[in-house]
Amino acid sequence: MNIFKSIIGVSALAGSVLLAGSVWAETEPDAAIQYRKALMGTVGGNMKASALIIKGQVEHKDALAAHARGIAAAATLAPAAFKQDTHGKGSEKTTSNANIWKDWDKFSAGLKALETEATKLADLAASGDMEAAGKQLGAVGKTCKGCHDANRDK
Ligand code: HEC
Repeated sequence: MNIFKSIIGVSALAGSVLLAGSVWAETEPDAAIQYRKALMGTVGGNMKASALIIKGQVEHKDALAAHARGIAAAATLAPAAFKQDTHGKGSEKTTSNANIWKDWDKFSAGLKALETEATKLADLAASGDMEAAGKQLGAVGKTCKGCHDANRDK
């Protein structure tokens, strides 16, 4: 009797561990969408701040490298944030289109390019070469547009 009880106990435990595992892997679609939008919002904010600095509209030159590192950091988090295919799921507003998951390799290569270009911007900003940093900001901006044109609905 006791042996049966403990077998049932162990399998119930194993079952709940499995259940917890699957709940963790598949996020509720609206939350997954909200999360990736929040992450991309930090990219937008850091990009806007960088542009204001480069144009000389604000005096925060020393902050440029940190803004660029913020973009690079978000780019490293983005593959996990976008991995779950939410196409046609949930009710949260999203501009992500199906191309992302149809050609995941291309999409993640775009995120890698964002990380690479933002890291270059951070290095130039840290070196104090604002002219080169200005040009590099343009290179970062190209990665945004290239990806958005293909992977976002207007
Ligand atoms: C490899 C693809 C990719 C790159 C590179 C990329 N984005 Fe995005 N971005 C997306 C996708 C896809 C969405 C749509 C997210 C959604 O609505 O689900 C998005 C959404 C956004 C949003 C809207 C967030 C919101 O609140 O809805 C902003 C702002 C943004 N991106 C800024 C940028 C900027 C600035 C850059 C470049 C510095 C950039 N992105 C680079 C794919 C990319």
